[in-house]
Amino acid sequence: MSIAVTGASGRLGSRIIDALRAADHPEAQSPPIVALTRANDSVTRTGVEVREADYAQPEAMSRALAGVNTLVLISAPVKTGVDRVQLHRNAIQAAQDAGVRCVLYTSVIGNGDEAGTWYAETQEVNRIAEQDLKNSGLHWIICRNGLYLDLDLMHLRAAGPDGVYSNNAGTGRCGYIAISELAFAIARLALEAQHGRGTNRSLNLIGETVSQQELVALANQVFDLQVRYVPIDEAANVERLMAHPMIARRGIEVARMLTGCFQCMSRGAFDVEPQFHLAAGRPAKPLTQQMSELAPL
Ligand SMILES: NC(=O)c1ccc[n+]([C@@H]2O[C@H](COP(=O)([O-])OP(=O)(O)OC[C@H]3O[C@@H](n4cnc5c(N)ncnc54)[C@H](OP(=O)(O)O)[C@@H]3O)[C@@H](O)[C@H]2O)c1
Repeated sequence: MSIAVTGASGRLGSRIIDALRAADHPEAQSPPIVALTRANDSVTRTGVEVREADYAQPEAMSRALAGVNTLVLISAPVKTGVDRVQLHRNAIQAAQDAGVRCVLYTSVIGNGDEAGTWYAETQEVNRIAEQDLKNSGLHWIICRNGLYLDLDLMHLRAAGPDGVYSNNAGTGRCGYIAISELAFAIARLALEAQHGRGTNRSLNLIGETVSQQELVALANQVFDLQVRYVPIDEAANVERLMAHPMIARRGIEVARMLTGCFQCMSRGAFDVEPQFHLAAGRPAKPLTQQMSELAPL
């Protein structure tokens, strides 16, 4: 029986595959790995069986899950006009129909104080998927992922010539985690689940929490920078994000959603209990180490 990973061409899915194949897991005799993607040629990893699966086509996805015991279900990317609740429901249905035993869903941390922010609607999609999975009768693991250290660090390191890094998080603390650390923990959970262990639990996959000021100070130390954190309000943050061509292309709704993440931080919604060690069998690496080990996105 195999372990399958959706989103295998993406940042997190591809690294989960790397971690599943890495030799430093006690469960190194790992089962066959199935990499699921909508387009076969987008998966760059070798040593895995690549199969086509689209959450929008549950019957075909169910066939692609033949022989799979454990499924890592990567949440669908945020995209305007896409019904992500239905996509996740389809994927869970496909897993049920295929006889998958356990599904791990990659969610996002949050203590409920996200309500009323511009991120609330996006978070609600995660919470509905969590509940759908719990109600499915399958074994489940909810991986409540911290915010990607990789992404905010990339923006921080690109601070303008004035050395100023700004957003609307203020003094709020947030659980950040590098994608490679998430991948390590999720791969270990999947390998454990494959052996029938550690299912039916939700875990906050973060290490230490930090404020933006602390994050900047750590980055300054690791990369020998002189960046200063200057808080700004929500409207100014939307404007700042829309100046990035990549975000501008995705539209103002995405800029508002991302600003909503910083609203969550400012309210303490992402200041949650670290449970990374319960998943990974070791504490998360210190943030400075995670920073110095970051691979290009
Ligand atoms: N915690 C955080 O800070 C954070 C940040 C950003 C995103 N996220 C969430 O975490 C997820 C994974 O992050 P990531 O960085 O790996 O994202 P990513 O690099 O954009 O990868 C997303 C993957 O989803 C797959 N996908 C898209 N639509 C699909 C569909 N209809 N059916 C099946 N697969 C589909 C894509 O695979 P193919 O194109 O090959 O099919 C792609 O590989 C994101 O989708 C998002 O929900 C979390």
